Amino acid sequence: MTKQGNKSNSTSSIWGGRFSGRQDDLMVAVNASIDFDQRLYDQDIAGSEAHARMLAAKGIISTADADAILSGLNTIRDEIRTGVFDFSHALEDIHMNIEARLKTLIGEPAGRLHTARSRNDQVATDLRLWVRQQCDDIDRACKALQHALMDQAEHHADTLMPGYTHLQTAQPVTFGHHLMAYVEMLGRDRGRFRDARQRLNMSPLGAAALAGTSFPIDRHMTASELGFDAPMANSMDAVSARDFAMEYLAAAAITATHLSRLAEEIIIWSSDRFAFIQLSDAFSTGSSIMPQKRNPDAAELVRAKPGRITGAFITLLTVIKGLPMTYGKDMQEDKEPLFDASDHLGLAIAVMEGMIRDMTVNKAAMRSALDAGFATATDLADWLVSALGLPFRDAHHITGQVVALAEKKQLRLDQLTLADLQSVHAGCDANCLAVLDPVASVTSRNSFGGTAPKQVRAAIAEARKRFS
Ligand code: ARG
Repeated sequence: MTKQGNKSNSTSSIWGGRFSGRQDDLMVAVNASIDFDQRLYDQDIAGSEAHARMLAAKGIISTADADAILSGLNTIRDEIRTGVFDFSHALEDIHMNIEARLKTLIGEPAGRLHTARSRNDQVATDLRLWVRQQCDDIDRACKALQHALMDQAEHHADTLMPGYTHLQTAQPVTFGHHLMAYVEMLGRDRGRFRDARQRLNMSPLGAAALAGTSFPIDRHMTASELGFDAPMANSMDAVSARDFAMEYLAAAAITATHLSRLAEEIIIWSSDRFAFIQLSDAFSTGSSIMPQKRNPDAAELVRAKPGRITGAFITLLTVIKGLPMTYGKDMQEDKEPLFDASDHLGLAIAVMEGMIRDMTVNKAAMRSALDAGFATATDLADWLVSALGLPFRDAHHITGQVVALAEKKQLRLDQLTLADLQSVHAGCDANCLAVLDPVASVTSRNSFGGTAPKQVRAAIAEARKRFS
């Protein structure tokens, strides 16, 4: 899409007044950001429109000039949208590409748009608008994923599976309960994007290069036109702050980390040893050599995304670290990691939603894994405490002996006879046999936030309201 301008080896006609020599090709190459910042065109044009209207309202430019500027900007927006705009490296960035085109389109009034403004407040404004939009988009995507998880959780509110610690069978849980853990994580992720959005929503526009301006501008007017809550209070902070992007990337890195955990579970669950779930054809890949393969490539890629997304966060911190007030060209390096992280996060969330919605659940495989894992051992220990009044440590020891016996006999815990149990501890009775049943086990964990199907259903209903 980007074309090298034919004046790529000349000095910018926009700032080149004091220059007579030509710019080295390497200077153009290192300096130009147009290949990536062209995606800020919508925000850049919105900022320019607000600025032009304000300049006219304050009598700084004439209404006729403002009208010409606004109509020129409209044309440029269409040209970029339809892919006919000719981007030039020599014009460095999106701001100067648009301004130069405006000059070609409307002539002299174009030169008045940059009154009381600098690229420094301009780019800070563009980027805040862009990150604000991303916060909203990512929030929406996370919400859709939460709903896919809740729909599956509803179907599986009483589907039993082993709950794990250390990836070793721990206690029976329901699959619905397990999925709802991710709904909660995503809820906090959304909160972080909302917090970031709220803090970033202040306008840098009118800070000009760094010190404000001698023109009688109205920063409140441009702030409100662009949907910001207020103008930023300090012009030097306004042009140099990038912590809004850091916060966004920190939130993105945490979300990506959460997604990678779910992705890893999907990979484990769909492996042929577990076979708890099967991914749909739509979200699986085959092998070019092994016809039996059904690979969870999408989940593996999501598992890998924290590499680039957390990397982007670290990149931005490192770029800004130690930068003196105010703007430095270093800050141009904020964009590529930001864009890349955002694109990949959006894709990862959408892919997870698709995988979760489409997956089929193999209840029988979950149940047999549960039965093989002595998952109700804690229930037996708890019973020895509550029915026989044993200290928990003794109960733990006795239960360990029961597990060893079952292992020796190659039986599940609930296949042991009363006589088997009594051979370990004489106090065992028929009630003690009943607690070894996994269904009884999950049903009994009816504490708030617990895995009992009743709690899980209540949690889903409450979460549907909270995350509506
Ligand atoms: N392309 C620049 C950036 O992304 C815009 C601001 C340039 N400002 C300047 N004083 N050179 O940071």
